[in-house]
Amino acid sequence: MASAIAELLDHRLVFIMGKGGTGRTTVAAALGLLSARRGRRTLVVEMGRENDLQRQLSVDTQQHSNPREPIQVSDRLWVLRLDPEEALTEYLELQLKIKRLVHGIMQNSGIRKLLGAAPGWRDLITLGKLWHLETRQLEDGAPLWDCIIVDAPATGHALTLLRVPQVIVNTVQLGPLRRHTEWVQELLRDPKKTCVVAVTLLEELPISETLEFSQGLKELGMAAGPTIANAVEIGSELADFTAVDTALARIDPAALAEWSAPDTLRAILRDSIARDALQREFLARLQTETGSAPIQLPYLAESPADLDAISELSDALERADR
Ligand SMILES: Nc1ncnc2c1ncn2[C@@H]1O[C@H](COP(=O)(O)OP(=O)(O)OP(=O)(O)O)[C@@H](O)[C@H]1O
Ligand SMILES: [Mg+2]
Repeated sequence: MASAIAELLDHRLVFIMGKGGTGRTTVAAALGLLSARRGRRTLVVEMGRENDLQRQLSVDTQQHSNPREPIQVSDRLWVLRLDPEEALTEYLELQLKIKRLVHGIMQNSGIRKLLGAAPGWRDLITLGKLWHLETRQLEDGAPLWDCIIVDAPATGHALTLLRVPQVIVNTVQLGPLRRHTEWVQELLRDPKKTCVVAVTLLEELPISETLEFSQGLKELGMAAGPTIANAVEIGSELADFTAVDTALARIDPAALAEWSAPDTLRAILRDSIARDALQREFLARLQTETGSAPIQLPYLAESPADLDAISELSDALERADR
């Protein structure tokens, strides 16, 4: 049987979701690097206006002026920041075939007001762009991207994003919008092609959100992939209570009695042990409620902020996959 990560990376479209700040961008980058290392042409897509992903992967954004072109990070790994406005312009150019006309449309104040009043178009065009990326082919007919990993918005918005095709299909009866949306929906609901990974910290709130989210996915007819427990810190050296007690036992009790440090040390250790136990409990809860053991990523003492640190997390994923 294929391991959880191999199975996950076998999908064409992998959404990385989770509560804000749980490490979605970091995990998307680490998985992307791992997928590329395993020989697959991989594109990691970031949404919105931030360049967090590029920063994590040490990309010098100043050097790349065409926002539509994926930026190559390393062998077989590319990143793309998906800006809905840019994607809409590109889509209209493809449909209308006249660039100048599209430029006029996009600058028209009436159109801009309309776009401002209907925020759902951003989600729809974002999904449309992902669909387009998924269908692109190389000259020999092979897919351009073996794996597209999406650093998706935080959970609440993510469900809205994934629900948009359903809303359109329910309300628009005919025409190209309906047809294109059905293609997108088909891709999202194809468990062989699309998979959603939830990233969580081992804390109450992100875990509750993860579980609610997977319920929401089921209702949308989408497949939930494995859960990734990020920044896990179990079994640190500090938790070795016995070693410290053994060391303290060697000290003359009279000298020890005058020294306040042992108590502080014990308190820190007790804390650390309690935290370990709590994290183990959360891991067990995730396993019971999702039906499979979460993939664990270690806590790094220094926040991962460049390609080397991300590479360290990819190694950890590799180890977790054996
Ligand atoms: N395993 C880890 N060990 C230590 N720090 C981590 C780890 N994973 C992520 N971080 C740090 O936690 C912070 C949040 O991570 P990240 O930006 O990936 O989360 P996010 O879910 O994408 O956040 P946002 O909701 O803002 O997009 C960052 O500073 C990141 O470097
Ligand atoms: Mg992020």
